[in-house]
Amino acid sequence: MKAIVHQGEGLDGASYRDMERPGIEPGQVCVKLKAAALNHRDIWTCNRAEPGASPVILGSDGTGIVSELGAGVDDLAVGDEVVINSSQDWASRSEVPLGEYGVGYKILGFPDHGTFAEYIVIGRQQVEPKPAFLDWREAAAFCLVGITTYRALFSEGRLKAGQTVAIPGIGGGAATQALLFAKAAGAKVVITSRSEEKLSKARELGANLAVKSDGDWGQAVRDFTAGRGADIVIETVGEATWKNSLAALANGGRLVVFGGTSGGTVEIDLGSLYLHWQSIIGTTMGSREEFRDMLAFTEAHQIHPIIDRSFPLSEGVEAMRYLDSAGQMGNVVLEIDT
Ligand SMILES: NC(=O)c1ccc[n+]([C@@H]2O[C@H](COP(=O)([O-])OP(=O)(O)OC[C@H]3O[C@@H](n4cnc5c(N)ncnc54)[C@H](OP(=O)(O)O)[C@@H]3O)[C@@H](O)[C@H]2O)c1
Repeated sequence: MKAIVHQGEGLDGASYRDMERPGIEPGQVCVKLKAAALNHRDIWTCNRAEPGASPVILGSDGTGIVSELGAGVDDLAVGDEVVINSSQDWASRSEVPLGEYGVGYKILGFPDHGTFAEYIVIGRQQVEPKPAFLDWREAAAFCLVGITTYRALFSEGRLKAGQTVAIPGIGGGAATQALLFAKAAGAKVVITSRSEEKLSKARELGANLAVKSDGDWGQAVRDFTAGRGADIVIETVGEATWKNSLAALANGGRLVVFGGTSGGTVEIDLGSLYLHWQSIIGTTMGSREEFRDMLAFTEAHQIHPIIDRSFPLSEGVEAMRYLDSAGQMGNVVLEIDT
């Protein structure tokens, strides 16, 4: 089968090539993929790979049609349309993965083979019914960022209607998904970007305030909230926005972090943190229970993820270079068989 495979160093080690189609074991399903979506993780995977390591099929997000069932899988049928939950071995909503499926906590796409391929074989517990109102590209785009932002906003951030959420760096797939979820939950949302075009697009998507990332936007959030600050800040940019993210946070506010694209070494004034009853919370991905809740929330609010651009699977390496250039607003998708 055709796939986007990484072996070697950096993005130069990624290529479109043939890989053997995997065999199926008891408890697994084979999915004929229709679309897959990129995440920054695919680029990190290329950059951190060790020389001499085995080839790995990249990709965490995907959607497609069940083409084969392993022994013991009797609650799915060949032909079912499914989305893939790349957060493996985490069933129940809990503070950390509990390893209920006994395979070890992993995110799909490294070290296990991922979704940038014509087929994937995966544990039955990692697939859920595809929301019918989404097309293939949309269904591929929102799963990894969906589960992560859903947990960040609701399980960790404890977001309630009427609260204010600040989201720096709106161009990323995670940030745009967080904007859509927060608006659907009735929050007021402040976003930042380095790009005027992305600020304007975010206003169209419902952002209540859209300001440049390089200015004193922490103060802009305070002005917007009559001095109070944001109840929740969703931080994925890291070093470049950290200072303002803390400045934007309300007394008792929660700064939820799950990425640091611009770098991960930051400073914290401990006195300011404890004197304002603030929390900094780290989170990654989420459980199957949260994934299902996220799908139900997406369906109930008919949330269509933002697709920036699509490429055919054969141009997957170009798609990763495009993502690496940070020109996108939303998700970058690979069409496999649509
Ligand atoms: N832990 C998890 O479970 C998890 C899950 C999903 C994602 N993540 C992480 O979350 C982060 C976001 O991922 P993503 O794929 O959605 O997006 P991304 O491609 O990493 O881009 C995020 C956005 O950050 C802003 N940005 C980047 N560098 C910047 C800089 N130097 N100064 C100011 N802004 C900057 C840009 O926004 P503008 O273009 O609008 O300026 C960019 O579009 C990544 O670090 C990813 O690894 C983690």
